Amino acid sequence: MARGRLCAQAGPRALRHRSSRRTALSLTDDLFDGSAAEGAARLGLTHLPGFALPCEQTLLADIEAIATAAPFRHMLTPGGQRMSVAMTNCGAVGWVTDRKGYRYDPLDPATGRAWPALPASFAALAARAASLAGFARFGPDVCLINRYEPGARMSLHQDRDERDLSAPIVSLSLGLDATFLFGGLKRSDKPFRLPLRHGDVVVWGGATRLAYHGVAPVVDGCHPVVGRMRLNLTMRRAR
Ligand code: SIN
Ligand code: FE2
Repeated sequence: MARGRLCAQAGPRALRHRSSRRTALSLTDDLFDGSAAEGAARLGLTHLPGFALPCEQTLLADIEAIATAAPFRHMLTPGGQRMSVAMTNCGAVGWVTDRKGYRYDPLDPATGRAWPALPASFAALAARAASLAGFARFGPDVCLINRYEPGARMSLHQDRDERDLSAPIVSLSLGLDATFLFGGLKRSDKPFRLPLRHGDVVVWGGATRLAYHGVAPVVDGCHPVVGRMRLNLTMRRAR
């Protein structure tokens, strides 16, 4: 069966075998899920459920083109740990980590070439989401693309390698569900757990720009459009 085959695959190839079916996600239920939305808002996190659904196919095609030019890879932390999340980038510079540390690099260390350009679809979606969250005139210049296979996780961290911390972060989820962890300005602050689904966007910035955040281990499953993975686009102003 086509869907079974799709979910037996891992990696960007799966993106080529998507169907045009919508997910079972109910936009109405999500929009009126007061508790999660209110909890997030109290912490300065704007949650836009299903915001990216109308451009799902364009976004996935753009991700596939980027991953063809700059393949997903598991980077090493400065301490030498292989990250469970596979990453690639697009835009003026790309976020990388290796034994030398965390940084933005104008060249992809894996290919020696510049990163693929930031697609108009990413920039437009980020600007609209940021503006709804109260950040007018946000224009991202970079996007980190994270690919989570089942079990992959992102430990609590701050996004602090960007030059201008007045710009917000716009983060978009596609594929498998995830639990986003959104904490405070101290690593020890207990994080709020926000369920994220295919097409959801979250935005944070201003007083919470340096909030610790992460993603709990992704639970195994098969998303009808994306397959056996979660994709995340983190759009930022890096320079
Ligand atoms: C990140 O903080 O870079 C990723 C967040 C996410 O995958 O939702
Ligand atoms: Fe982050």
